Amino acid sequence: MYAALKSIGAYVPKKVLTNQDFETMVETSDEWITKRTGIKERHIASENESTSDMGVEAAKIAIHRAGLKIDDIDMIVCATISPDYLCMPSTACMIAAKLGRVNVTAFDISAACTGFIYALAVAKAFIESGMKKNVLIIGAEKLSAIVDYSDRTTCVLFGDGAGAAVVGATRKKAEAITDIHISADGNYGDLLMTPGCGVKKPCSEQVLEEKLCTMKMKGNETFKIAVRTLTSDVVNILNDNEMKASDIKHFIPHQANYRIIKAVGDALKMKEEQVVLTVHKYGNTSSASIPMAMNDIWESGRLRQGDTMLLDAFGGGLTWGSALLPFAGKSFK
Ligand code: ACO
Repeated sequence: MYAALKSIGAYVPKKVLTNQDFETMVETSDEWITKRTGIKERHIASENESTSDMGVEAAKIAIHRAGLKIDDIDMIVCATISPDYLCMPSTACMIAAKLGRVNVTAFDISAACTGFIYALAVAKAFIESGMKKNVLIIGAEKLSAIVDYSDRTTCVLFGDGAGAAVVGATRKKAEAITDIHISADGNYGDLLMTPGCGVKKPCSEQVLEEKLCTMKMKGNETFKIAVRTLTSDVVNILNDNEMKASDIKHFIPHQANYRIIKAVGDALKMKEEQVVLTVHKYGNTSSASIPMAMNDIWESGRLRQGDTMLLDAFGGGLTWGSALLPFAGKSFK
């Protein structure tokens, strides 16, 4: 039995924060943000909209587009670094309950921006081992809840949203996920972290005062490692599968920074039309960014059944990964 990606869906909250909005909040400019990141705007969830609420909306679309019913789903995996609750219950359990699915395997994955590729790998392994048939994978983030809006070095970067896909069992090798690489190096954990509110530094007055429950990032160091690691990772996955960059129809990188995407795309000699870009309109939505970008090209009719995709991501942990796969769902009409 092989595993195939059968559908894609996404949810984008309505409220938009533009670079001009940030000019009134912190010492920054549209020019700086655009030049250094490529971001023009990002979407922000409403106060009573949680990560699981957004995940549910994306999931409903993905299940419908796969031609399935919720009861056909036998496992739900949610990748997130902004879960509804700090320790429990998991956001995947909340999503399962809101979808009306009980007696189902459901759990979260914490791999930051690489979360969706980790979830894809887990789904592939469960399906190929014969343990599951239809796995719903979700990347959902309410990063606005863990951003310090007085810190200009991070607040302009992040947005909210969710993406979901159904990974299903197939006997057709042509539909199968070709390969996935996932990796991590915890020695660089301090480059990107939320230092407070875990057991190491439990919530206290000092933690709240210093806003230690929000994301802190050594951006420039992270940038350099991201470019180096992503380039070698995508070269390796292509070589391992005896493929060339020109064999890829859609290169869908994690949307953190236009300059990182451009550097990796240039190193691979990718043509502009191969590289999927959504960072200008969504910012960095961590684990949701790849499925949101995939959904964008599906809804615009660019992503067709059988198209070869190369995904790659890099994030806190540090974690990174890449995936080679055909799109096995129906094309948009
Ligand atoms: N507006 C204006 N100036 C700013 C802003 C801002 N919003 N933010 C930083 N600056 C200033 C800095 O203070 C610094 O000023 P100084 O030279 O006087 O000290 C200057 O701009 C340059 O700062 P750098 O941090 O060197 O800027 P850089 O070009 O590296 O861009 C950025 C910063 C956008 C964060 C970039 O480093 C980056 O994208 N890093 C990688 C992010 C990433 O991929 N993270 C992993 C995924 S995220 C996840 O897993 C959740």
